[in-house]
Amino acid sequence: MAKVAFIGLGVMGFPMAGHLKEKGGHEVTVYNRTAAKADDWAKKFGGKTGATPAEAAKDADFVFICVGNDDDLRSVTLGETGVLAGMKSGAILIDNTTASADVARELADAAAAKSIGFIDAPVSGGQAGAENGVLTVMCGGDQSTFDTAKPVIDAFARMVGLMGPVGSGQLTKMMNQICIAGIVQGLAESIHFGKQAGLDIEKVVDVISKGAAGSWQMEARHKTMNEGKYDFGFAVDWMRKDLGIVLEEARNNGAKLPLTALVDQFYGDVQALGGNRWDTSSLLARLERK
Ligand SMILES: NC(=O)c1ccc[n+]([C@@H]2O[C@H](COP(=O)([O-])OP(=O)(O)OC[C@H]3O[C@@H](n4cnc5c(N)ncnc54)[C@H](OP(=O)(O)O)[C@@H]3O)[C@@H](O)[C@H]2O)c1
Repeated sequence: MAKVAFIGLGVMGFPMAGHLKEKGGHEVTVYNRTAAKADDWAKKFGGKTGATPAEAAKDADFVFICVGNDDDLRSVTLGETGVLAGMKSGAILIDNTTASADVARELADAAAAKSIGFIDAPVSGGQAGAENGVLTVMCGGDQSTFDTAKPVIDAFARMVGLMGPVGSGQLTKMMNQICIAGIVQGLAESIHFGKQAGLDIEKVVDVISKGAAGSWQMEARHKTMNEGKYDFGFAVDWMRKDLGIVLEEARNNGAKLPLTALVDQFYGDVQALGGNRWDTSSLLARLERK
């Protein structure tokens, strides 16, 4: 059992912190910007709350963060109230936010200056994966820091992999998002085509999902896409944030991502339709607008 702090109790962080307490058996202290959520968490799981990130992180062996973007991450990590101001030397900071590889390196340096270990550890698996404790965790960091942190991360994960030095977890998550963008656009076009052709989408998917066109997106999303339901899942606003990070990284490393850049603009169209919080499968709504 370890002393753990968790910063950011959103859709993902709330259940992840819960697994650290219940499944991991750790002593967990939480912080959330909107304090009512931290109180709700403490009531539900029986842990403690801190008034600031630094206070929650005091004395912790492991500090987890899961907030929105690079700037959110800096605001809970650096400065007088940030976790690094409260953490003890020898502790490990694990960042589960989907953020840039640059901010991972920046925070790893700030942590190293205080003899604190750092792992960038973005996750995949969505809200259901977080609630069921079966996330995929893509880590960047050094081997010994990873080996110490992995048994703790295991509390909310099905797969935890070390991909390379700091930043490699975020770069791996970028590959994940590039795949998703292309696959979802292909699926949206296929369902749109099938509807125009008068086919029974359920029947078609039942057959083609068993062949080479099958995918997680097809299995998990075709039904709701066919019914025009998008009010759930991973939000378009988050996807645009992620694709923005991907395209910036590609500008720096020279990768050519024509399809990703196009799909990013399609998600811009979905936002213009009012779909900021719709699920990423709402690319179909854009094709169906009159
Ligand atoms: N949702 C998914 O399916 C999913 C899947 C994989 C990865 N992710 C990634 O995981 C991260 C969190 O996603 P989520 O869905 O849990 O988001 P969310 O529900 O919007 O929660 C965001 C959390 O971050 C906190 N926060 C945001 N900005 C902050 C700031 N400046 N200072 C302090 N706290 C701040 C929020 O506090 P308040 O409660 O005060 O707003 C909230 O606790 C994102 O990077 C996202 O891309 C999400």
